[in-house]
Amino acid sequence: MELTLEGRRIVLGIGAGIAAYKAPQLVRRLTERGAAVRVVLSSSAAQFVTPLSLQAVSGLPVSTDLLDPAAEAAMGHIELARWADLILIAPATANLLARLRGGMADDLLTTLVLASRATVAVAPAMNQQMWAHPATLDNVNALADRGVRVLGPAAGQQACGDEGPGRMLEPDQLADCAEHLCYGSEPRLRGLRVVISAGPTFEDLDPVRFLGNRSSGKMGFALAGAAVAHGAEVTLVAGPVALSTPAGVNRVDVRSAEQMHNAVHEAAASGCDLYIGAAAVADFKPSAYALNKLKKSGDEGMTLALAQNPDILASVAALENGPFTVGFAAETEALEQHARSKLERKKVHMLAANRVGRPGCGFDADSNALTVYDANGETTLEQQSKVSLAHRLLVLVADAMDGSTRSESR
Ligand code: CTP
Repeated sequence: MELTLEGRRIVLGIGAGIAAYKAPQLVRRLTERGAAVRVVLSSSAAQFVTPLSLQAVSGLPVSTDLLDPAAEAAMGHIELARWADLILIAPATANLLARLRGGMADDLLTTLVLASRATVAVAPAMNQQMWAHPATLDNVNALADRGVRVLGPAAGQQACGDEGPGRMLEPDQLADCAEHLCYGSEPRLRGLRVVISAGPTFEDLDPVRFLGNRSSGKMGFALAGAAVAHGAEVTLVAGPVALSTPAGVNRVDVRSAEQMHNAVHEAAASGCDLYIGAAAVADFKPSAYALNKLKKSGDEGMTLALAQNPDILASVAALENGPFTVGFAAETEALEQHARSKLERKKVHMLAANRVGRPGCGFDADSNALTVYDANGETTLEQQSKVSLAHRLLVLVADAMDGSTRSESR
């Protein structure tokens, strides 16, 4: 596995909520990806999870008290505040959110937040009624306005028996968020509405067969998670893939190119500043769908009649007052020539191209390399994880969008 949090320093602050029982797992997920994790328990959190377990999984001392002479001698709280690249608070209880909003410094964790310049992220976890209370929502909004990243909560079954929003995101999702935040500490797409299409499309032939392709959807999903980390409101139109939804993303599942076309246009119609077509859309579909399973007839071969699918990217690029558009192209040869011709033919603002067949890159891999073309030239993004590639690409997109707003307003 690629160690994408290698060298990153994370303070994991744990609030006194039942979801704290997931904290050791979260520490593992973060350290597996290469991060150094120092755990800080808020007052009373040790009643839900023991410092000893957390120390064992993180391999580093766990801090609990602000006024602990031994801990202060090892690494003082100001030093710890400076050490962190990211302060991730999970679970963040209603009480802890209120104290953070109030700028309290009444225990080690709240003091660290005040004393640090690191990115701060909170993963709320509480009863759904407490989450829906105007006081909590007000605190969360105030923290978000101050630049604190709010991760979740998810909706579902709660420890108290209730059902609804207020569940802490799962450790894997939080580790993904941490990775995104470590790359995208400055939100470059704040307030923008982004639509991303990802994965393959399946074109049904009969009730048991379809035409598909090898796209895994990983690049599009990484872009969706990265766009959320950059402050965007994200709709992800996903073809059939086996990936979990990045936190904070509004996902619409589709199967065929036609369904993807309709879902993308529906999302674009309700407001879209940026469209990224990362899906491997099938260019053709069977001309006819057989209601019953097709049968062999003797030893003869078979010819399949195909009809063309709509070009989703080109149709979005052609919208009046449409969004900034970014396309992808996977090519086996003449990368620049094909990419430039697609950029012009589809009239998109930017096109990210990659060569198919490089070892460790492409369809089902976790990494890729891209050359990004636009009217001003090209930029090469060398081989790296798709998560980090997604952030680099979004920074290029944000730069280009800033540039095009400037030239339009001139
Ligand atoms: N695309 C699309 N709708 C299609 C085909 C492609 O939106 N029906 C988008 C893809 O999501 C991608 C870009 O167009 O962003 C380029 O896809 P690609 O398959 O490389 O382009 P094609 O036009 O199909 O060109 P070709 O198959 O000839 O290489």
